[in-house]
Amino acid sequence: MQKSILIIGASGQIGTELTLKLREINGKNAVIASDIHEGNEELMQSGPFEFINAMDFERILNIVHKYRITDIYLMAAMLSATGEKFPEKAWDLNMNSLFNVLNLAKAGLIKKVFWPSSIAVFGPTTPKENTPQNTIMEPSTVYGISKQTGERWCEYYFNKFNVDVRSIRYPGIISWKANPGGGTTDYAIEIYHKALLNGAYNSFLTKDSKLPMMYIDDAIDATIKIMDAPPEAIKIRSSYNLAGMSFTPEEVSTEIIKHIATFKISYNPDFRQSIADSWPKSIDDSKAREDWNWKHKIDLEKMTKLMLKNLSLKYQE
Ligand code: SER
Repeated sequence: MQKSILIIGASGQIGTELTLKLREINGKNAVIASDIHEGNEELMQSGPFEFINAMDFERILNIVHKYRITDIYLMAAMLSATGEKFPEKAWDLNMNSLFNVLNLAKAGLIKKVFWPSSIAVFGPTTPKENTPQNTIMEPSTVYGISKQTGERWCEYYFNKFNVDVRSIRYPGIISWKANPGGGTTDYAIEIYHKALLNGAYNSFLTKDSKLPMMYIDDAIDATIKIMDAPPEAIKIRSSYNLAGMSFTPEEVSTEIIKHIATFKISYNPDFRQSIADSWPKSIDDSKAREDWNWKHKIDLEKMTKLMLKNLSLKYQE
């Protein structure tokens, strides 16, 4: 059967690059982008686009029929920092969108679902270094609570209704094509923009706030790998731990100084500090490495080169 993919939340930070990559692999007409907002020019020109509110089941159903969709990637969500400002809205969006997609799969209308979870499922009582796959999970943000609950529902739909849902716990994702959407790890993107534009950055996290992070190319690679794996290889149906690198604001700054010698960083922590403090510093992702051959490629040094190179080209346009 021909694969036909729908990305919900395609205009977002990860959705944009995931759509472009899936179109490169499967052909542009096999991948339908959708979002409540239009995406950037590159996304909009790369293939079909439909407006979808992820909470509107009828609208999703309509598009599933129209394009005979087989696989859905649900990338729409309200992230940790914005979620703390709009808790009920975050809960509504993050949970209802997931039920919409899981129920389509339960009804047999689609074959496969990708739904991202996050390091935000962990909380202050979780072991912070090398956080295991199975451990204490007492998240303290609305975003984290919604992702943890979502994980339980994914596993439930797999066990009870045989829904082929696959998920990974993304760390902070760093990219340059589309802007991030209100996360606690966004400092690690802003810092590169400000380094090029102002030669200085005022960090909203303290210098030693170490968090798990990943460059976008690795995140896209992991997403495609888990979706391409044979069903029997996917032994965890809640969500897989996933790791790339871990670093602090001070460490990124040191790396940037290798390229921009006059770069200056200052620290002025805000409400996002307590969110960062509640999350792991590093993640044990050995299950993903064993079950579906996950392997990250990009470290802080390589990522810094890529971010500075691509952003300076973008700013010259
Ligand atoms: N990048 C996300 C956030 O900060 C973590 O999943 O909310």
